[in-house]
Amino acid sequence: MKSYTLIAPAKINLHLEIVGIRPDNYHELVMIMQTVDLADRVEIRSLSTDNIIIHCGHPNVPLDETNLAYRAAELMQREFPNAFLEYGGVEITLHKHIPISAGLAGGSGNAAAVLVGIDLLWELGLTQSDLQGLGAKLGSDVPFCISGGTAIATGRGEVISPLPSLEGIYVVLGKYQSLEVSTPWAYTTYRQEFGHEYAHDLDSLVERSHRVHSGDLVKAIVAKNTVKIGKLLYNDLEKVVLPAYPLVSQLRTEFQHHSNLGTMMSGSGPTVFSLANSREQADAIYHQVRATITDPDLELFVTQFCDRGVRVIDN
Ligand code: C5P
Repeated sequence: MKSYTLIAPAKINLHLEIVGIRPDNYHELVMIMQTVDLADRVEIRSLSTDNIIIHCGHPNVPLDETNLAYRAAELMQREFPNAFLEYGGVEITLHKHIPISAGLAGGSGNAAAVLVGIDLLWELGLTQSDLQGLGAKLGSDVPFCISGGTAIATGRGEVISPLPSLEGIYVVLGKYQSLEVSTPWAYTTYRQEFGHEYAHDLDSLVERSHRVHSGDLVKAIVAKNTVKIGKLLYNDLEKVVLPAYPLVSQLRTEFQHHSNLGTMMSGSGPTVFSLANSREQADAIYHQVRATITDPDLELFVTQFCDRGVRVIDN
C-alpha cells in the first residue's frame, strides 16, 4: 500500500485585524500570516478497508471526527466517491511537535496535510487552488496552511495573497502547556466589547482591507526590514485575551523585556512570540525567559520563518 510523509508547519500572525462581522457570523479579517519551521509530521497510507484511522501519541489530541484531520479525510471521501471506492480508507499518524490549542494553526496544518496526502494517494491531480477551496470548507486557516510562506489573508482568513519571502528571520515562541484559549470565545468576547467599532458597509470593509494591503507592514515585508516588521506587529485579539489571561500577559511582558525586535501574541493565543535577527539573539531570548520563568509548564521554542506550507518529504 502506498504511503506519504508530509511536513505541516505552524503559523504565526504578524497582523490580525478584525474589521467586521459577516452574514455567516464569522468575522471579516485582514491578517498577515507567516509559516515557521516548527512543524508536525503527518504520515498517511491507504487501507484495504474503508475506515479512517487516526493515531497520535499526544494525550489531548482526539482520534475521532472532532479532529480536523479526520474531517479532512471524510471530506475527501465525500468529494471523490469514485476514488474512495477504488483506493479505500486511510490511516493517518500525527507526530505532534506544535503545541495544541495554541494559536499556531497546528490542527489546521494537520488537516491541510491530509488533503495534500490524499490528493497524492488517490492520484487526483488537484491544483493548489482546488486544495485551498476544499480546505476552506474545514477551517479558516487551512487554505493558508496549504500554501504557507508569508501572505495576506482576508475574508474569513481563506482568501490568500502571497507576499515576498521572509525566510531566515528567527522567532522564539512561548506557551504554557496546560493553558488553552478557545478561539470562538476570543472572537465572541471581542465582538461583545468592540463590535461597535466594526465596519458595517462594504466600502469601509474594502477600505480597511486596502489599508493593510498598501500599508507600512507590507512595505516593511517587501523591504525585509526586520526592525520595522517588529515595530508594526499587531493583533486585535490581544485586547480580550491579555486581560482575561494574566499569565499570557506576564509572559508577553517578559518576552518584550528581552527582545529588541517586537513581541506579539499569535492568533487567539495563548502563544506569545518575539522576533530575532539571528540564532544567537533568539537563543539569548530563550535562555533569559527560561531563567526568569522557571515554571516547567512553560514550553519555549526557537524556530525560523519559512517560505512554504505543507510539503511531502517521503513516499
Ligand atoms: O474557521 P475556524 O473553524 O478555524 O474558526 C474557529 C472559530 O473562530 C469560529 O467558530 C469562530 O468562532 C471564530 N472565527 C471567526 N471569524 C473568522 C475565523 C474564526 O469568528 N474569520
